[in-house]
Amino acid sequence: MSLRRRTLLKVIVLGDSGVGKTSLMNQYVHKKFTQQYKATIGADFVTKELQIDDRLVTLQIWDTAGQERFQSLGVAFYRGSDCCVLVYDVNVMKSFDTLDNWHEEFLKQANPANPRTFPFILLGNKIDVDGGNSRVVSEKKAKEWCASKGNIPYFETSAKEDYNVDPAFFSIGKTALANE
Ligand code: GTP
Ligand code: MG
Repeated sequence: MSLRRRTLLKVIVLGDSGVGKTSLMNQYVHKKFTQQYKATIGADFVTKELQIDDRLVTLQIWDTAGQERFQSLGVAFYRGSDCCVLVYDVNVMKSFDTLDNWHEEFLKQANPANPRTFPFILLGNKIDVDGGNSRVVSEKKAKEWCASKGNIPYFETSAKEDYNVDPAFFSIGKTALANE
């Protein structure tokens, strides 16, 4: 099989503080999870090699601070992204309600050539908590939101249990590659 030149894809992960952005990335890239919360300060990226069809791609995944006071880098690095991943916690209504803001703010700052078709992906994280008994946002409601934004793909995940993390990021890679 011939593998073409490696492609670098830039992905930005956004969402409220505590929804599990860093945990999802750690699980995906390092296969590690910790219960301990350490707020992300500023923004940093990790990379992961991925084969998609006959292409070798490098996902450059930018983890960002959900807490406003730690968003010290500003948002200049949103520019040039190939995909934006929005994360909320299925057990916290506010983290779902703020998705509109994250979505809007991203488009405003990244200023992509075609905002209407720019690829987003939504992850509903922490589905493991309390065996699903404390969830307050239904899958139906999440999918309705996705439909209202032009059919954003949706995945339910658990960074803790490593549930659906690989499939979600593979889809993120595919989507970013298609948009590249
Ligand atoms: P900021 O950096 O402040 O924006 O937060 P974040 O979105 O990066 O959240 P982080 O990954 O730090 O996770 C917050 C807390 O939730 C930590 O205590 C994690 O251990 C926990 N957590 C993350 N994902 C899951 C999950 O899927 N299930 C459970 N039960 N806990 C999780
Ligand atoms: Mg974080």
